[in-house]
Amino acid sequence: MFLPVIMSGGAGSRLWPVSRETLPKPFIELPDGGTLLQKTLQRAASLDGVERVLTVTNKEYYFLTRDEYQVTGTPVAHDYLLEPVGRNTAPAVAAAARYAGGKYGEDTVLLVLPADHLIGNQETFSKAVAAATELARNGWLVTFGVEPVRPETGYGYIESGEKIGKTDAHKVARFVEKPDLQTAKEYIASGRFTWNSGMFCFTAGNMIAALREFAPEVLTSVEQTLQGSNPEITPVVLNEEIFALSPDISIDYAVMERSSKVAVIGADFDWSDIGSWSALAELVKPDARGNRINGETLLVDVDNCYIQSESRIVAGIGLDNLLVVDTPDALLVAHQSRAQDVKAVVKQLKLKS
Ligand code: GDD
Ligand code: MG
Repeated sequence: MFLPVIMSGGAGSRLWPVSRETLPKPFIELPDGGTLLQKTLQRAASLDGVERVLTVTNKEYYFLTRDEYQVTGTPVAHDYLLEPVGRNTAPAVAAAARYAGGKYGEDTVLLVLPADHLIGNQETFSKAVAAATELARNGWLVTFGVEPVRPETGYGYIESGEKIGKTDAHKVARFVEKPDLQTAKEYIASGRFTWNSGMFCFTAGNMIAALREFAPEVLTSVEQTLQGSNPEITPVVLNEEIFALSPDISIDYAVMERSSKVAVIGADFDWSDIGSWSALAELVKPDARGNRINGETLLVDVDNCYIQSESRIVAGIGLDNLLVVDTPDALLVAHQSRAQDVKAVVKQLKLKS
């Protein structure tokens, strides 16, 4: 069996004030009216042979998630694993592998899809997934490598090693999660590295074995939290006291950096982690003056700005290279070059509350 696993959690603080704990990144409306979560489900459902999808998310987002899925009218069955608290991606992946392994068999191939990505070109994506499935069946933990275009420090980097047999995939020589800027620059200059897209493909059994070897505490707490739950009744709500005992660690640090059975497939499709307002702005077509507008505006001598407004008119005079995002209770004004620093505002906000 082949089972896409949609991972959805995390507040997406660089998209404040629209993305918040009550409405995280996968749920925010994009300029085309859809949401990242809807698009992720549609992408998963269009893959060959997909009849059901497993979603791992916080229990707070269960009803919101179901509503989002319903809007798409996508005809797939659903399993849900609901987390009482966010413990990062390793426990979420571990729970998915354990649950799916128990319910559908350990040879089930899981495709982990983060709910905060946009992917163009479904056909190329499907081809890469088909190749990944084959490798997963042969024992590999498969990653999808994207050609890097800047020394981004918010991503994992994959160094390709030798080719795997007659496939287009390579063995991963090294996986480095979120290096510092200097290291990221060196990686890009070397030409041997790709970005980790954050999607993974493996069999439930192989992931369980890797967790047992590299992150046994994560596996143990997840196994205990699933004990006694009936997999036939969905959603499965994970036991809070036990789940909270799991270390807070990402799957990248817990397994991908440590295992020697990691493969990389070139991700030749358009991929974007909608990580900041500049990435989101690119989804809107610029006008003749380079402005990207999403909402109602009155502009005089304004160039190269991204302006988004939900309910009011935004008027601008003599502006250049700004990001302006207006919501009913908060307004963000930032220089385009500082889009990554929006998370610093959220940090201050948290200190205040
Ligand atoms: N269910 C659940 N529970 N999902 C979670 C949790 C959690 O506790 N934490 C994060 N997620 C979801 C996020 O919503 C996202 O869809 C995905 O898992 C990845 O988590 P992020 O927090 O967005 O990770 P990242 O962007 O910092 O880094 C990862 O993705 C990069 C590409 O976007 C890594 O895999 C990097 O190596 C990679 O380059
Ligand atoms: Mg992310």
